[in-house]
Amino acid sequence: MSGVTLTTLFDLKQRGEKITMLTCYDATFAATACAAGVEILLIGDSLGMVLQGHDSTLPVSIDDMAYHTAAVKRGNKGALILSDLSFMSNATLEQTYQSCAKLMQAGAHMVKIEGGVWLAETVSLLAQRGIPTCVHLGLTPQSVNVFGGYKVQGRGEQQAQKMLDDAIALEQAGAALLLLECVPSELAARISQAVRIPVIGIGAGPNTDGQVLVLHDMLGLSISGRTPKFVRNFMQGQDSIGEAISLYCRSVKDQSFPAAEHEFRA
Ligand code: KIV
Repeated sequence: MSGVTLTTLFDLKQRGEKITMLTCYDATFAATACAAGVEILLIGDSLGMVLQGHDSTLPVSIDDMAYHTAAVKRGNKGALILSDLSFMSNATLEQTYQSCAKLMQAGAHMVKIEGGVWLAETVSLLAQRGIPTCVHLGLTPQSVNVFGGYKVQGRGEQQAQKMLDDAIALEQAGAALLLLECVPSELAARISQAVRIPVIGIGAGPNTDGQVLVLHDMLGLSISGRTPKFVRNFMQGQDSIGEAISLYCRSVKDQSFPAAEHEFRA
């Protein structure tokens, strides 16, 4: 795979070809995912749950994120590397700059930040400093204690309109990518059509510009034994992890994943 850039992602959206993203936390999985055709490797702060065994993403530090970003970079073979700003690593503008510097110097090509329209100024200042951002909307796991659990967001016309307005304002502020987690499919489709930047979904139905899953979920690995509704176990029927990830990529590209059973409705 030749190097995936923001231009590649915009071209894919314009052509109507779905974008493949998968979480990744180390060099071996980075190389395996690239060989299978994954276009964006997300070093998600989900590593706090799937690697470190915490019950939320809140304990993850920016140094944890930089460590795993550097490991992924060493195994990367041409994917775009996206790294999460961990909980409270962007509490002030000064902290945001320092945290982004750690991630970009560790090998990230873009940073992901959870929030809404209140991030517009930050997104714009980061873009001016050479740091593209992906804004994570919908169910933002760092706010689990505000939401009162991991719940679908954007249900009801008022909440839906607010998320749509936020998405448009963030694009105008200079966001390079949006990620929608656990939102009704109808809303995700409206947002994806309303903005020119690519929109990646997880639990957001089939009509976003691309899909992401947590690596461990799609390999059928879980500490709790609970699998979210939007996850498909791609290991089933496959002989190797590489084959499972290839099947994921093919299923995103041919739009057989996500299927109706993985969707949330308004
Ligand atoms: O941290 C993460 O893995 C994420 C995904 C759930 C999209 O943000």
